[in-house]
Amino acid sequence: MDDLRNKWLAEIAAASDEATLEDVRVRAVGKKGEVSLRMRELGRMSPEERQEAGPRLNALKGEITSALAARRSALEDAALDERLRAEWLDVTLPARHRRAGSIHPVSQVTEEVTAIFADMGFAVAEGPQIETDWHNFDALNIPWHHSSREEMDTFYMARGEGDDRPPHVLRTHTSPVQIRHMLENGAPCRIIAPGRVYRADYDQTHTPMFHQVEGLAVDRAISMANLKWVLEEFFTAYFGTKVRTRFRASHFPFTEPSAEVDIQCSWEGGSLRVGEGSGWLEVLGSGMVHPKVLQAGGIDSAEWQGFAFGMGIDRIAMLKYGIPDLRAFFDSDLRWLRHYGFSALAVPELAGGV
Ligand code: PHE
Repeated sequence: MDDLRNKWLAEIAAASDEATLEDVRVRAVGKKGEVSLRMRELGRMSPEERQEAGPRLNALKGEITSALAARRSALEDAALDERLRAEWLDVTLPARHRRAGSIHPVSQVTEEVTAIFADMGFAVAEGPQIETDWHNFDALNIPWHHSSREEMDTFYMARGEGDDRPPHVLRTHTSPVQIRHMLENGAPCRIIAPGRVYRADYDQTHTPMFHQVEGLAVDRAISMANLKWVLEEFFTAYFGTKVRTRFRASHFPFTEPSAEVDIQCSWEGGSLRVGEGSGWLEVLGSGMVHPKVLQAGGIDSAEWQGFAFGMGIDRIAMLKYGIPDLRAFFDSDLRWLRHYGFSALAVPELAGGV
């Protein structure tokens, strides 16, 4: 009995992890363990022998069981101490710096413009960047010989060999969205259409891809006066200061009469300030929608009339945020994007957050 006791207590003391300890338990006091087998042998003993061996075996079993429990909790404590040591973490350390991306000025300004026009009841319309030459030119009353159709300005898509239908174009302005919207929705309507446009041009103020926002309002009694009011409301909200506009007679095939619109500004001390002074800066083209354009849009020009305008988004972004070179907008230079970009959490306000 003493040998048995010494043997198992030694094995228990030597078990260095919980799996080994469990193995010891099974071999000692498990169903077929050595101690259990000895207890089964009691049945074959004489009553005297049993009376002497039974309590001793029971006591031994109890001793082994409590030695197992003590050893198990010692091992658990050691394991926990080891984890606490290894997985230690200083929650008071400052967080690691992570750069957040930023909102591109074009996206920011598009949001601002959309918010301001939405407040005046304009919905947002969209059209494809690859456009049919009918939507981009013919429907807008742009004749075959017009200079903007020349290869110089327009990017033409390739047609398959032997296919001599007129090629599609990368839209040169957002005006084809007027046509698509009128054909789909009829009159009356009040929309803006922001988006990408393409012209073959490249210098400090021109890039082959840039952004415009089109405006179109058609109803029974819409006039140039409404156009002027809407634009002055827009610029005043956008620049966050009262901005006067100047309309200069101009020509576009798709509007009659047509006007180029300037906004009031000053150039004092070499820096440009919108909404003050006696200078003028051209920012958009506009006019009353030409009857032929209404007709191409499926609208009866005897009953309906309206105004339209087209404005460069990149250009008004440069003006508001003091960005000198248009080409940098599309260079994807991270330093530029971090400098001129906007926080993703800054909600555009009606006054553009000025
Ligand atoms: N589509 C013209 C341009 O790209 C702008 C414009 C739009 C002018 C609507 C008048 C009316 O220059």
